[in-house]
Order: sequence, then C-alpha cells, then structure tokens
Amino acid sequence: MKIDKNVENDGVIFMSIKENDERAQETGSEGDVTILAIESSCDETAAAVVRNGREVLSNIISSQIALHTIYGGVVPEIASRKHVEKINGCIRAALDDAGVTLDDIDAVAVTYGPGLVGALLVGVSAAKAISFAKNKPLIGVHHIEGHISANFIENKELEPPFVCLVVSGGHSHLVVVKDYGEYDIIGQTRDDAAGEAFDKVARAIGLGYPGGPKIDKAAREGNPDAFTFPQAKIEGAEYDFSFSGLKSAVLNLINQAKMQGQELSQADVAASFQKAVVEVLAGHAIRACKEYGMNKLAIAGGVASNTALRELLEKECAANNIEFYRPSPVLCTDNAAMIGAAAYFEYRKGVRFGLDMNAVPNLPLGDRERRFHGRASRLDKLEQDFGGRR
Ligand code: KG4
Ligand code: ZN
Repeated sequence: MKIDKNVENDGVIFMSIKENDERAQETGSEGDVTILAIESSCDETAAAVVRNGREVLSNIISSQIALHTIYGGVVPEIASRKHVEKINGCIRAALDDAGVTLDDIDAVAVTYGPGLVGALLVGVSAAKAISFAKNKPLIGVHHIEGHISANFIENKELEPPFVCLVVSGGHSHLVVVKDYGEYDIIGQTRDDAAGEAFDKVARAIGLGYPGGPKIDKAAREGNPDAFTFPQAKIEGAEYDFSFSGLKSAVLNLINQAKMQGQELSQADVAASFQKAVVEVLAGHAIRACKEYGMNKLAIAGGVASNTALRELLEKECAANNIEFYRPSPVLCTDNAAMIGAAAYFEYRKGVRFGLDMNAVPNLPLGDRERRFHGRASRLDKLEQDFGGRR
C-alpha cells in the first residue's frame, strides 16, 4: 500500500490513499485479515480484534451505564471524558486477549458516526493515532452498519440479501441488506426510536435507566393484556414507525391513575407497553420479508436483545418459513466486534479513509450506488464536508 503523508497548510498531517486499482490489488489476496476495531459512539467504550469479519478474537466493553444511571440518562460530556479515560486500556486489553500486537493487525476500524460527537471523537482520534503511528489502513464504519454486521459473527453462513430490523436507542430502521455494505432503508421512525421509547416509559413508571432491560425484566411478571395501547400505522409509509403516541398513552394512563389515587402495576404497564412495541416491530419486519420475497430476517441493536421481541419473531418466522437470525444479547448492544465485522467487508472492497476522517454525528446510512455513481447525495456532501473519504 502506498500511503501519502502530507502536511497541510495549517500543519495538520493527513494521509490519503488515492488509486482505486492499487487498493484493489492489495486487497485481492486471500490471506487472513485481522482488524482492530474501536467503538465509542455513546456510553460504551469498546475495542475488539476480529479475523475475517466473522471470528472474534477478543471483545472488550467498558460500560458507563452505572455512571449515567445517577442522571437518568447519558450525559454527553461525562461520556466523552470517560471514553478518554478508558480507551487505551480497552485497546490494550483487546490486543492482549486476542494474543496479537499492533504489528499483527491489518487495519484499524472505528465508528465515525452517527453518535455523540464528543464521544465519537475519542474513538476516531485513537484509531487515527494507531493508523498513523503503525502505518495501518484506517476504515471508518457507520454505527448501524456495525449493528447489522453483528449478525455475521455467529451465523457463519449468513449472506445478503436479507431484511434487517435495526432497533437501538437512537435508531429504528427496517433495512433490505442487498449486499455487504449496500442497504435500502424501507422504513424508519418518525419520532422516537424504539429504545428511546423503552427508556422514557421506564423512567415514567419509576423503573429508571437503562429502560429497555428493566422493562424486559419487569414485563415477565406482568399481564401484557392489562392495558391496550395504540399501535401507530402511518398512512402511505407502511414500514415507518412512530412511538411517540404510544409513549403519550402510557404517560396519560399514569397521570389519570395518579389523579384518581389508583395504584398501577408497574409490571402490567411494562408488559402492555412492551407488547405494543414488539407487535409493531415484528409485524413490519414479517410483512417486509413477504413483500420483498426474502426468506431471511435478522435483527440488530440494543432492543434486539428484548426477550419478547425475540420470542415473537421466532414464532412468526417459523410460521412464515423465514430463517430468523439474532445475535447474542452482548452483540446486540454496543460493542466493537460488530464494527470489526462491518469493517472487514469494507476492507475487502478496498475502502480506506484518510487521516482527515472526522466524527459525523448525524451520518446517514447511505447506499453504495449513490456514493459510487456520483449522484449528489446528502452523504456525499457530508463526507466532503467532514472528511470521511471513499
Ligand atoms: O444499540 P444500543 O446499545 O445503543 C445505541 O446504539 O443506541 O441500544 C441501546 C438501547 C437503549 O435504549 C436500551 O434501553 C435498549 O437498547 N435495550 C433494550 C434492551 N436492552 C437494551 N430494549 C428493550 N429490551 C431490552 N432487553
Ligand atoms: Zn448502537
């Protein structure tokens, strides 16, 4: 690989790799590819070593959940500071656990968006430093692309095309994964993300943060039919989601009960709310598989670890002859192994980023055609503005 190191007029050093054909030659080899991956987009500092996209040699996650619990949610400034404290230790532990050194890795990958800008910057800076110091290729990964790719780790036979339901704290997307790194977003949330709704409702019923796992647990003791909550349908966009009406319905129920001096069962509210969310998610996902003629459905993101969602989809997939893929819960919530998995397929395609890569807090999940066929897109514009280079 030929790396140009240039000193820009403001003294910023960057490296960029220019020729596509040169890159293709280098990535054409059949040898093993070992990637050090870094994730710091929200409240987990994580590093992992992944071989050939599907074999996790190490997966270190330093969670800040306990710290943010005091405040009832993620405090961005605290998250950034904690990432700075933890990142080097996580990387060191990931290398040690995998039994490799920086010299053994073929590339360093990092989440560069979307996420909290201060949090993203910590991982991006660490990855760029390693890339520069060790002369290793640098690969920027879209966080959601990482979540989707978590499915490749435990399902060695899984290959696109398939439908993926991505449900996390910041995103609810229904995606057709056409090929590695190529996506059609067929549905997304109009307001709150699914995980956000879990977090807000958990706070309202006094379960605290993080809401998803707490509602999941409380719901096991509750009656899912105790209350009927609305399941929003969006006219003309049948795969889009909306959870704000559902959240308001729960809040109204709680306020009414308070005014009437009634005691509500936390478990019943949790179970009924969860049922409403999970039925919408599963309904959209199964309908998409049928309409798009896909017999493979994968799930991804923190909410994908929800017990009720997994059980319902298991049942629905079996009834509709759809193969159901779900990562282990630890690979559903934020981790770096999924970033290493996504980066491998990018690496094989010859995707390299320059040291001018920056954090892009609102990076959209784009499709590859738009990027490569030069049609103006929001993503191209963002990448020009913010420096992710393809
Ligand atoms: O993917 P993730 O770790 O971070 C983001 O990219 O946002 O997802 C975190 C979200 C939080 O909203 C959390 O409450 C939710 O996933 N979550 C769950 C469960 N575990 C985590 N939601 C429902 N049930 C769960 N078991
Ligand atoms: Zn995530």
